[in-house]
Amino acid sequence: QGYAIATAALEAGAKVTIISGPTSIEPPDRANMVDVTSAREMYDAVQNTIGNIDIFIGVAAVADYRPVNVAEQKIKKSGAPSNHRITLELVENPDIIASVANQKDRPFIVGFAAETDNVIEYARKKLVTKNIDMIIANDVSGTSVGFNSDQNSTTVLWPDRSEELPVMSKAAISSRIIELVAETINEKSK
Ligand code: C5P
Repeated sequence: QGYAIATAALEAGAKVTIISGPTSIEPPDRANMVDVTSAREMYDAVQNTIGNIDIFIGVAAVADYRPVNVAEQKIKKSGAPSNHRITLELVENPDIIASVANQKDRPFIVGFAAETDNVIEYARKKLVTKNIDMIIANDVSGTSVGFNSDQNSTTVLWPDRSEELPVMSKAAISSRIIELVAETINEKSK
């Protein structure tokens, strides 16, 4: 979905930087790519980029937690019968989109919310708590839409209204989202 959004933005004439974790698909070739492999690297790359942008679209499914200690080598089984379990201590990752929203001269900010239940309610909560301008609520409860599928079922939410989009391809949804972003920015600047 992130690469589809970037492609739609490029087609609309934007200059696009993609900050991306590893994926199995090809990014659009006209985008400026910044490759990262962890949430903290993504956070740093975003901080280095946001001074120069008008629109920030947070599409990455960032892990909420990371292990406190990262093993340099493969963790071996101990062999002792009492050691069939190990405990990994996790610490919260920084919320990247909220950090962008807290900047003084912030860009227009669009988030995504993948939810399995109470989709609209939870997405609206994220719109408010993360203090962003628009959020795309994504119903990932089924297997035919959402992750690992080209179809997506989405509703766009603003602080004062919402619009349900028909189930369509990630490319078609992305073009509509970019149109709605442009419309919202134009309305705001009137
Ligand atoms: O994971 P969650 O549903 O909270 O994601 C909602 C939005 O927040 C998404 O736009 C996601 O990219 C962003 N997010 C973030 N940093 C995190 C977690 C989520 O920017 N650590």
